[in-house]
Amino acid sequence: MTGPSETVMRIRDLRVGFDTPDGRLQAVDGVDLDLRRGEILALVGESGSGKSALTMSLVGLNRGPRTHVSGQVEFGGRNLVDSSEAELREVRGRAVAVVFQDSLAALNPLHRAGAQVSEMLRLHQPLRRAAAWERAEELLDDVGIANPSRTARSYPHQLSGGMRQRVMIATGLANEPAVLIADEPTTALDVTIQAQVLELLRRLRAEHDSSIVLITHDLGVVAEVADRVAVMYAGRVVEHGTRDEVLRRPRHPYTVGLLRSVPRIDGRPAESLFAIPGAPLTGTDRPEGCAFRPRCADAVEECGTRPQLRAREPGSGHLDACVREPATAGNGGVR
Ligand SMILES: Nc1ncnc2c1ncn2[C@@H]1O[C@H](COP(=O)(O)OP(=O)(O)OP(=O)(O)O)[C@@H](O)[C@H]1O
Ligand SMILES: [Mg+2]
Repeated sequence: MTGPSETVMRIRDLRVGFDTPDGRLQAVDGVDLDLRRGEILALVGESGSGKSALTMSLVGLNRGPRTHVSGQVEFGGRNLVDSSEAELREVRGRAVAVVFQDSLAALNPLHRAGAQVSEMLRLHQPLRRAAAWERAEELLDDVGIANPSRTARSYPHQLSGGMRQRVMIATGLANEPAVLIADEPTTALDVTIQAQVLELLRRLRAEHDSSIVLITHDLGVVAEVADRVAVMYAGRVVEHGTRDEVLRRPRHPYTVGLLRSVPRIDGRPAESLFAIPGAPLTGTDRPEGCAFRPRCADAVEECGTRPQLRAREPGSGHLDACVREPATAGNGGVR
């Protein structure tokens, strides 16, 4: 992306806490992020780092008596965190669409694929049934389904995982959302279909200037499609910048570890895969200061104070939350 572009969603001090038998689990612990128009923002981090809790809370999908969400998600002139359920229903599927990894759980088993797409259309647009069905078939065609009219008439269980995932994406794209949140949309798919889905996301961005939040474990996917990357650890963003800043010049030891623990993105296997020692923090106990400290080889005494996410050079958009000089960065970058 070149030049400054408009912020479509502004996230400030977002917190999501869950009441558990062991106490409050702070799954998202004060996240600030700006989503710009027409960009693909990748959200990466180990399992349990809070990626899904964060994105679900953007459109109120995890509200409940044991869930505590606070902060600001400014979108379209309102704060979605304290918008009513009725307001959120209006936003979801139209302005902000969400695509989940598990398409079998997300699709209604009793409804034909075409009906799920056309219902999403009719929910937000004044379309007659037949016109909506026709448009649904077009959308199925758009997502690369070879026989859209037959697929439209199929029930979810009659479709392969890859096909269901495309139906989900067609549902997400139905109303040309300003923001598409895709939580591991390609994880369950084989490599060829994965490439097609990524192509689809790129096209949505190119044709509609949509903004996409892409959650993925796959740093190869990030390298391929992301404009910017936010790295999450224990509910916080620990590094944030353009794709090249984060993948090639990582600063936070956690980012360095993540990059060293995957095969090289050019497809050649790494000589030896590095594993970040220790386990990610998932429980209710959080150390004082930097949450990565117990696993960090470079930890020093200062790490006992909570580090702030900040730029090292004035005006730079490359932010990290490490008090150390990024001495190890050279080893971990993807080259
Ligand atoms: N409804 C819930 N009640 C209690 N704890 C929850 C709930 N949902 C998530 N958590 C916990 O919150 C933390 C963050 O979970 P989240 O699902 O956001 O992680 P994630 O980064 O999406 O992981 P993954 O990569 O495995 O999808 C985890 O410790 C998880 O166990
Ligand atoms: Mg998740």
